[in-house]
Amino acid sequence: GTITFVEYDGTTHEIELVDGSSLMQLATSNGVPGIDGDCGGEASCGTCHVIVDEAWAARTGTRSEEESQMIEMSPECAPNSRLACQITATPDLDGLTVRLPEFQM
Ligand code: FES
Repeated sequence: GTITFVEYDGTTHEIELVDGSSLMQLATSNGVPGIDGDCGGEASCGTCHVIVDEAWAARTGTRSEEESQMIEMSPECAPNSRLACQITATPDLDGLTVRLPEFQM
């Protein structure tokens, strides 16, 4: 399976889905620019902000309280904004597309 990250300028990165990895881990290990993951996946740095494609929002779940507090600090926060470190890749998410904001926090 694959997951597609779309940079703010429209550049797409289709990367291999690894079951059990977070989207942040997949992005950073595949060199997707614009996902930093500074805190290592603790939902505390806000540098792994992605916006989940509307069609996928139900399957990726909803933000936790902690995640919401972090992501709402971004001026680019959208209804489907998530922290990529808080989404775990499963075969279920094959074909998922997420967009990156213009800037990370
Ligand atoms: Fe820090 Fe996701 S890696 S919030």
